Amino acid sequence: MIAERIKELKKQKGAVILAHYYTSAQVQEVADFLGDSLALSIKAKELDAPIILFAGVNFMAETAKVLCPEKKVLIPVPEAGCSLAESCNAEEFAEFKKKFPDHLVVSYVNTSVGVKALTDICCTSTNALKVIQSIPAEQPVIFGPDRNLGGYIKSQTGRDNMVIWDGACDVHEKFSAEKIFALKKEYPQAKTVVHPECPAEIVEMADYVGSTAGIIDYCGKSETLEFIVVTESGILVEMEKRFPDKKFIPAPAIHEAACNECRYMKMVTLENILTCLENESPEVRLDENVRQAAQRAIENMIAVR
Ligand code: 13P
Ligand code: SF4
Repeated sequence: MIAERIKELKKQKGAVILAHYYTSAQVQEVADFLGDSLALSIKAKELDAPIILFAGVNFMAETAKVLCPEKKVLIPVPEAGCSLAESCNAEEFAEFKKKFPDHLVVSYVNTSVGVKALTDICCTSTNALKVIQSIPAEQPVIFGPDRNLGGYIKSQTGRDNMVIWDGACDVHEKFSAEKIFALKKEYPQAKTVVHPECPAEIVEMADYVGSTAGIIDYCGKSETLEFIVVTESGILVEMEKRFPDKKFIPAPAIHEAACNECRYMKMVTLENILTCLENESPEVRLDENVRQAAQRAIENMIAVR
């Protein structure tokens, strides 16, 4: 069995598998740690293991390597990108930055290492509000690359000295307000939980807005028994496992072709994890100057926590 072989190899090599909540149920099953992007970056830094295999998308594995240059960071599918990270190219971002020389740059971790290297402080959806609130109100800010998360923070802080890069995630952009409205009518007791990468019209329908870890936490603590979940549907695996007495209803996308699954996260399979562990390849490799610049931005974020 592939899962058994992965477990053996992990033991033999002292490797640790970190997996994001959006990976498939089978992948989550072989992970040593499951988490949101913030928890996984911090875990990568704290771990005392020579090999980390990152079951997730490219920017997450890069973040782990930025924080742990001495460790071997493996990524089973380097082509597993992220539509949001890809909506912000480092050269174009550098040009954009030049237009606002007195602005501080805050970037979401869903960015390439090149964009992180141009950043003063990174943030995730868990800590974005805290990061922005840690910056003096009079200091103008560039926020990238997610226009929806940027807009949400702006609405929460009332901060109008923030310029926002015009990027978005394909998955979170495609939820249907109409279908969520219909689900709310069908399940009148249900609470609606929404990831802040969704557009404002969807966020406005939420009882709770937060990161993947925030959403799981909220559903666990709430006395409500039914939830309409407006984020990538892989998160339901962990929710159903932790809270078997509660009902989680995945929100549908606008149309069949646009689905509520992240195609990049689902590229990671047990088969490619096994091959990657066997070969100890592909491995994340970064230019050292770029890595150090990106590390500053991520460490600045961790310090705000
Ligand atoms: P989290 O930071 O909530 O884990 O989200 C990462 C992500 O890619 C959301 O689409
Ligand atoms: Fe990127 Fe969207 Fe996939 Fe998250 S769900 S990894 S933001 S493409």
